[in-house]
Order: sequence, then C-alpha cells, then structure tokens
Amino acid sequence: MPKPRILVIDDEAPIRDSLKMTLEYEGYDVIGAATGQEGLALAEREGPDLVLLDVKMPGMDGIEVLERLRNMNESLPVVVVSGHGTISTAVEATKKGAFDFIEKPFASERVLVSLRNALDSRQLRDENRSLKKAVEIRHQMIGESAGLKHVMAAVGRAAPTNATVLITGESGVGKELVARTIHRNSLRSRERFVQVNCAAIPEELIESELFGHEKGSFTGATEKQVGKFEQADRGTIFLDEVGDMSAKTQAKVLRVLQEGEVERLGSARTVKVDVRVIAATNKNLEEEIEKGRFREDLYFRLAVIPIHVPPLRERQDDIAPLVRHYMDDFSRENNVRPKRITPAALDALTRYRWRGNIRELRNAVERMIIMTGGDTIDIADLPESIRSPAAWPASAGAGAGLAPPKASPEGSGETRAGTLREFKENAERMFLVGKLRENGWNISKTAEVIGTPRSNLYKKLEQYQISQETDG
Ligand SMILES: Nc1ncnc2c1ncn2[C@@H]1O[C@H](COP(=O)(O)OP(=O)(O)OP(=O)(O)O)[C@@H](O)[C@H]1O
Ligand SMILES: [Mg+2]
Repeated sequence: MPKPRILVIDDEAPIRDSLKMTLEYEGYDVIGAATGQEGLALAEREGPDLVLLDVKMPGMDGIEVLERLRNMNESLPVVVVSGHGTISTAVEATKKGAFDFIEKPFASERVLVSLRNALDSRQLRDENRSLKKAVEIRHQMIGESAGLKHVMAAVGRAAPTNATVLITGESGVGKELVARTIHRNSLRSRERFVQVNCAAIPEELIESELFGHEKGSFTGATEKQVGKFEQADRGTIFLDEVGDMSAKTQAKVLRVLQEGEVERLGSARTVKVDVRVIAATNKNLEEEIEKGRFREDLYFRLAVIPIHVPPLRERQDDIAPLVRHYMDDFSRENNVRPKRITPAALDALTRYRWRGNIRELRNAVERMIIMTGGDTIDIADLPESIRSPAAWPASAGAGAGLAPPKASPEGSGETRAGTLREFKENAERMFLVGKLRENGWNISKTAEVIGTPRSNLYKKLEQYQISQETDG
C-alpha cells in the first residue's frame, strides 16, 4: 500500500515543520501549505488522503478553506486544528463536515489517533462504496434487444405489486436475475429474498425445508426448523425450478398461496405469513399439466403475472453489449488491461447459438479474457466451439464444413462439394440463410430484397430445410 498522504495547512512554519517530522516518522507522506489558497491548490493537484487544517490564518480562514475542500471532494477527511479552541469554532467546523477538532497546543499522540481514525473510516467508506457498486453491477440487466425491453417493462409493472410472478425461459437466460430485480424494485426490498431451489432438494426434505418442522416430528428432526416461507415473511420467496416439485409439495404450496398460512411438520398450529411468491422454471408447465405432472390450479395461482425470458439467440442485439460488459467486468476482476474485440470476432459471437444462453456467454468471455495474451480478441482467440464452422447455423445443416460467411475466402465450399450441383446448392443455401438473417427472418421482405417471388422462397426453404430454428 502506498503511504497515506497528509496535507498540512498552517500559517506557522514551526508547527508545519514539527507536524511534518512527527508524521513522516510515523510513515506518512506530508506536504505543507502556508495559506488557505496554497492549500486548496495543493489539495487539487496532489490528491491527499487527509487534510490537517489550521483555523486562524491570515487571508482565507480555515472555516472557509474547509467549506471549499468539502465542495471539491466530499470524501476527503479534514481534521481541524485551532489555537482558539472555543466551543463555537469546534461546532461550526463539525457542522461544516470536519472529521475531528483538535485544540492547540496538542500532543502529537492526539493528532496521530485522530488521523488514524479518519483514514480508517475513509477506507471503510470507500470499500463499502466499491462493494455496493460491484453488487449493483452484478445485478444489472444488460441488453438493448426488443425482447429484453419487453421483459423489463413487465418487471416494472410487476415489481410494485404483490402479485405472484411466474418466470419461464431456458437455462441461463436470466430468470433468477429477473426475480431479484423484481424484489429489489418492490416495496419489500428491505426485507428478505429467500431462494429455494426445488430441484436441488431431495424429495423427503423439501417439505420441512419449505414449511419447517417441530423438534422430534420425524426421525432425524433433532432441532426445530423454521421453514423458508416463514423466513421470507414480509419479503419474497423465490421458488426456483418450481416444475420439479412433487405432487404432494405442490398441494402444500397451493395451500400457502390460498390461505396465506403455513403449518410446520409435526405441529397442529398454523402460522400466518405475508410472502410474495416468485416462481421460475425452464420446463413448459402447460405441457407438464397435460402430462399430469403439474397441478393446473397451482399453475394459475403462480402465473398471475407470467414473464417469459427469451433465449439469447432470439435477442442478438443483446450479445455485443453483454460481451463488452463482461469483458470490462472480468478485466477488472482479474486485474488485466482492458482488451478490444475485433468486429469479426464480435460478429462470430453474435451469430453463435448460445445454447447455455447468458451463462455460456459469460463463461466464454471470462475464458477469452484470461487466455488471450494480446490486447485484442480476434476470431482466433474465440473458443474452438464458437470458431468452428459446425457452430455456424448456416452450415449446420446441408453445408456442414463450410466456413462462416464473412471469414471465408470466396468459394471455399468447393472443396467439400463433389459436384457442381452440390456446390451450387450449398452456395444458394448459404446465401438464403444470410439474407434471411439480415432481414430478421421476415420472409416477405427477404423475397423482395433478393428479387424472387415469395412462393419460390418458401419452396427453397423447404428444399433446403431452412428454418429459423436451424439457424438459432
Ligand atoms: N441481461 C443480463 N445482463 C447481465 N447479466 C445477465 C443477464 N441475464 C442473465 N445474466 C447473468 O447470466 C447468468 C445466468 O442468469 P440466471 O442465473 O439468472 O439464469 P437462470 O435463467 O436462472 O438459469 P437456470 O435456469 O440455469 O437457473 C447470471 O450470472 C446472471 O447474472
Ligand atoms: Mg436459475
């Protein structure tokens, strides 16, 4: 750690000198100023960690300097020193934001203690602030796509209410983040957010986990346990992977939702709870209902406000901002210089299918940041799975082995296509997929752009088995 730097502002040279000696001896770096003006200029230029300030000085007096210092940098601690230790000066200095007030003549011990306290509290505050910021960044929802905006609008509408929310979407799309965002923006934000992963808890434990149990209510229940619903009282409970609950648990959860009360296992007493429920699943609950695996009545209770988070491949506009966000994040975290990414690499990332959604993207970026030696991430630095042609939707079907459109030298499909006809078909397929993608898979628009009747385009899509699904 660098030495803390102390700025001493005092018009009396002997006092400056003796403070300098004492403080330097204690391991501080000391700069001195003889007037308020000079002190302000030094404070601006040298960025001290603390200011020791005399009140009575010719010219600008200490209280005014204090005010200006506070305006310049609110988090810079100022310890005021005065030979005219009247109560009123002390009160005024403290009111104006001085950290401490010391009367002259002072013992050096007194000054040292005050400095240490001020510096410690400043460090604590700085740490606190950066922790808070880190948490905020971690909980930020990044993206610009229409799909994400839609989700955010729903979050905004749901948050201030007490309505139950059901969040659906593939693994890694951000369901938990959506749930936390709702809680943070709700009237319950100061209360607890209790998360239960219904898929991770063994069947025989889930009920006592959710509803609690009394001591001795079953073998192994050696202590009383307060269930998650009770823990979340006045706050929010997040039932993650709600599609994985057994029929019995579903019935009990339904009861809590209907009655607003829970019953601990082994107890005849019920406890009122005021809990907002947010549930999430990557299963298709309508299908689960049809197969008899999920209660329809529970579904309707949960899906008062349904929010579907679309997969990343359906919101390609989010990919570049997410990549940049995670590049910054991981560079900071790993203390490496921020890197640049080439348009070609970003393009490849944007076209990739991201089956693991944002979680996969995050991991890929972290790896790239750590593994890339230089300052720039290019195609060659992308993970093999993303770089390889097989990962490219356009070539995943008929033209396996074709190079990605932008990075390929002209006509590289030739090498794989045995006959002229195969080559022509490969090329046509690639061309069509590219144009469709450019036009957001709007068939009419694409047909118009490439100058072919819509019916013909449909025929080609069928012939080559092209669909948005195969593209991602
Ligand atoms: N829009 C976003 N901006 C920034 N980070 C995001 C965004 N969406 C998701 N993430 C991050 O992606 C990761 C996965 O998100 P999350 O855990 O919320 O997904 P999930 O849908 O709950 O996944 P699973 O079904 O696997 O539990 C987390 O690290 C999360 O912070
Ligand atoms: Mg999750």
